[in-house]
Amino acid sequence: MVPPFHDLTSQPLWLLLPSTLGFFILLKHITALAKWVFILLLRAPKNLKNYGSWALVTGATDGIGKAFAFQLAQKGLNIVLVSRNSTKLKSVSDKIHANSPSTLIKTIAFDFSGSGLDGLDEQLEKEIRGLDIGVLINNVGVTYPSAGFFHEVDEEVWMNVVKVNVEGTARVSMAVVRGMVERKRGAIVNIGSGAGIVVPSHPLFTIYAATKSYVDQLSRSLHAEYKMYGIDVQSQVPLYVATKLASRVASIERPSLFIPTPDAYAKAAIQRIGYEARCAPFWAHSVQWFFSRLAPDSLLDAWRLSIGLKRRGKKLHEELI
Ligand SMILES: NC(=O)c1ccc[n+]([C@@H]2O[C@H](COP(=O)([O-])OP(=O)(O)OC[C@H]3O[C@@H](n4cnc5c(N)ncnc54)[C@H](OP(=O)(O)O)[C@@H]3O)[C@@H](O)[C@H]2O)c1
Repeated sequence: MVPPFHDLTSQPLWLLLPSTLGFFILLKHITALAKWVFILLLRAPKNLKNYGSWALVTGATDGIGKAFAFQLAQKGLNIVLVSRNSTKLKSVSDKIHANSPSTLIKTIAFDFSGSGLDGLDEQLEKEIRGLDIGVLINNVGVTYPSAGFFHEVDEEVWMNVVKVNVEGTARVSMAVVRGMVERKRGAIVNIGSGAGIVVPSHPLFTIYAATKSYVDQLSRSLHAEYKMYGIDVQSQVPLYVATKLASRVASIERPSLFIPTPDAYAKAAIQRIGYEARCAPFWAHSVQWFFSRLAPDSLLDAWRLSIGLKRRGKKLHEELI
């Protein structure tokens, strides 16, 4: 039973102050939990066609990007697929067509780690001129082939990570946002990673993690910058998703409760487009994020370092046998 107000005020200050503080902390967590449940189960997704009739997806021939492309086509959007391999692009395009026959599809072969990134934004802008691109999924991203100390990583490898994740993401956004500003509508989703946001550090994948922190900050600033133009920019933060990338760097071979398939990730991710500046769309990832906030940074640093060292050791061992 709630005590009458005069009973509360007669309590000593040393008891009243912490109890009041505790009450507000509890209230904050209950409100956050209620909001989380509302977003996951009750909030209606945006009608993406209101942003424009086309979506552009980078890194669209595999993993998360391919899943986004299929599902956006199912939602009635025409699709621009951007990736490096024209044969794979053709194959994904044919499959989307078989699945959603009325979808218009344009493919653009581009290697983001190549030498021609300089004019990418102008080149891409020319390719998409006249298309009403309403949704951009800036998904392409690469990491090291295996864990390694900062000084051990080949220059070619880490420069590719920087080119694809940093320069590529900025140039694609640049190419697409100009048209969105003219039309005064659009949604941009930049795919970050828990490596750069959820954990305080990601040792032995340092440059990858740093590029993903960049993606997050880029997105959050663009979110504030372009809101007045009707453009919703979002930083999405996946943790592990069962793709080739995760198999390569974390030996993840199959989905589980906390590791969704690319399709399950994309389904959750599409529901979130156009809302908050930053989110972890898959429910189990947001649970992991919540618990990681409770742990001290030093513990998380030690845990990630031990994982990095184990992965590096495994790689060295594989190289020796
Ligand atoms: N999977 C995870 O656990 C996870 C976790 C956090 C964040 N992410 C992020 O999610 C995004 C997608 O990752 P994913 O796991 O879906 O990766 P993935 O399965 O390796 O697919 C990557 C896609 O990008 C394309 N690509 C790679 N390098 C390219 C280049 N240089 N130029 C053009 N296209 C290129 C690939 O084309 P090809 O088909 O030719 O290889 C493929 O279509 C990345 O930004 C990644 O950092 C993933």
